[in-house]
Amino acid sequence: MKEVILKLIEKELKGKLKKEEIEKLIEIPPSDKMGDYSFPCFSLAKIEKKSPLLIAEELKEKIQLPIEISNTDAKAGYLNFFVNKKMLAKKILEKIIKENKNFGKTNIGKNKTIVIDMSSPNIAKPFGIGHLRSTIIGNSIANICMYNGFKVIKINYLGDWGTQFGKLIVGYKKFGNASQLKKDPIKHLYEVYVKANKESQSQQAERDSLSLQMGTNKNNHNKLQSIKPICSNKEDYEQEARDWFKKLENGDKEALKFWKTFKELSLKEFEKIYKLLNIQFNVISGESFYNTKMENTIQELKKKNLLIESQGAFVVDLEKYNLGYCLIQKTDGATLYATRDITAAIDRHNKFKFEKMIYEVGSEQKLHFNQVFKVLELMGYKWAENLIHVEHGLYLGEDNKKLATRKGKTIFMQDILDETIQLAKKELESRYKLSKKELESRSLSIARAAIFYGDLKNYRANDMVFDIENFISFNGNTGPYLQYSYARANSILKKVKKSTAKYELFDLKEQEIKLIKKLNDFPETIFKAYEKLSPSEISNYSYELSQIFNEFYQECPVIGSIEQNFRLKLVEAFRDVMKNSLNLLGIDAIEEM
Ligand code: ARG
Repeated sequence: MKEVILKLIEKELKGKLKKEEIEKLIEIPPSDKMGDYSFPCFSLAKIEKKSPLLIAEELKEKIQLPIEISNTDAKAGYLNFFVNKKMLAKKILEKIIKENKNFGKTNIGKNKTIVIDMSSPNIAKPFGIGHLRSTIIGNSIANICMYNGFKVIKINYLGDWGTQFGKLIVGYKKFGNASQLKKDPIKHLYEVYVKANKESQSQQAERDSLSLQMGTNKNNHNKLQSIKPICSNKEDYEQEARDWFKKLENGDKEALKFWKTFKELSLKEFEKIYKLLNIQFNVISGESFYNTKMENTIQELKKKNLLIESQGAFVVDLEKYNLGYCLIQKTDGATLYATRDITAAIDRHNKFKFEKMIYEVGSEQKLHFNQVFKVLELMGYKWAENLIHVEHGLYLGEDNKKLATRKGKTIFMQDILDETIQLAKKELESRYKLSKKELESRSLSIARAAIFYGDLKNYRANDMVFDIENFISFNGNTGPYLQYSYARANSILKKVKKSTAKYELFDLKEQEIKLIKKLNDFPETIFKAYEKLSPSEISNYSYELSQIFNEFYQECPVIGSIEQNFRLKLVEAFRDVMKNSLNLLGIDAIEEM
């Protein structure tokens, strides 16, 4: 319909404005009563040196209305178009039902690849809430890009390298326990890590205070001797940790053995989470993969005169760009997070020749990515301009404090997922009698919908409150509510034998028109979501669509009405579009609820 209007205006203006300019100008009026589309005449007024009111009037007179448009109206410098609703209804329903899961797809990404760096938890540490956001948002962005014809490579870039592994090895040697490690690796490793850090710190404090009093009290001297800490003090602990990481970087057998065990066990735990979330990756790689490749990057940076020495370390000076210094190599030769990201970007561009690479990572890493992108640009990589940090905000608890650190407790993802599944089960059990198998699978789908939608309904860069009780509700702006609307449409369709019957079009009711217009908006919504890399465009659309559908269903009886055949088509079209929307968000459209 927009296309029809575009052509009409283009023909009438005879080149005074370009097609793309006209397209950008066409808007949707704030109320249906003003029209379905409207063309503001203000830019033309400047060209023609006439008042916009007059131009709108003249256009109205000149334009010959095609069958798709039932009326026009010139008002306050706008030319408003009223679409022929019956015609729109017929066209859009046929299109949706015919194209089904392809409805709204574009091929702008044909033969092009987009890489998405997403999820990327850290080995031997709990799967964080930030990683959950990255997983959910990254997955939806990947779906949106695929819907627009791109080949998408989802990379899970594990944090499996860095000085913290030195610390972990030192800690594990002191506090570790093989059987506990097997039983619950992440919790155990996390405890070890925390304990080691804490102990080295508190012992340092105790030593400091004892040393102060040493001169006056001989007993303290013995006490001091008797503290046989993890290392003799914080300094030593840090040094020992650095040494172990150095060993790891140099391929020391014992260090590697520890690291491998930690990695394998952590991966197994992460696998469980991905299985529950139903998330897959094309590549699971990690920082360690670049251990042997960073030397090249360092040499290249040197050759390109970008590295400067600062107190024995090597940095790239980005002060000019207000980005400080990007640390590339420490005094002891150890490499850094940024060194690995620079190396990884070059490697991925060689491998995938990507059109764009998206990093779905929390906004707290903004400076890091700006530095990495700048360094790559300075190295002369033209494609650095196609690197995008798609940032997300924090999860907050109900008390609006950062969730991960609330009450000083660490939140374990597995616990959150289990709790959500239990809540979904309770809700289902209170409503239906289901077999055990059905209960399991439905509650999992619903829990996933609750968590995914609870996140994706927010604009990603904003902080959001993580409120599971609210997310799981079957009413309101929630994932389960959307699933429920879908299932409802499905059950209406199931009640009648699949009818291919032709339908007759009676005068359309307000709710029918609203639903048709909303269905018609789906392709544009997808495109917007792609342009802004923003799944919330789709989640907001889905919620509005569901609401409109439920209003329609309340006002317009389907089965047994004289409009039955037409309304069944409308329900079918709603069901198809809803399924596409849910799938784009990563949510299962379940047939029954
Ligand atoms: N593992 C990192 C963290 O948890 C996130 C990695 C993001 N991706 C990247 N290419 N740096 O903070």
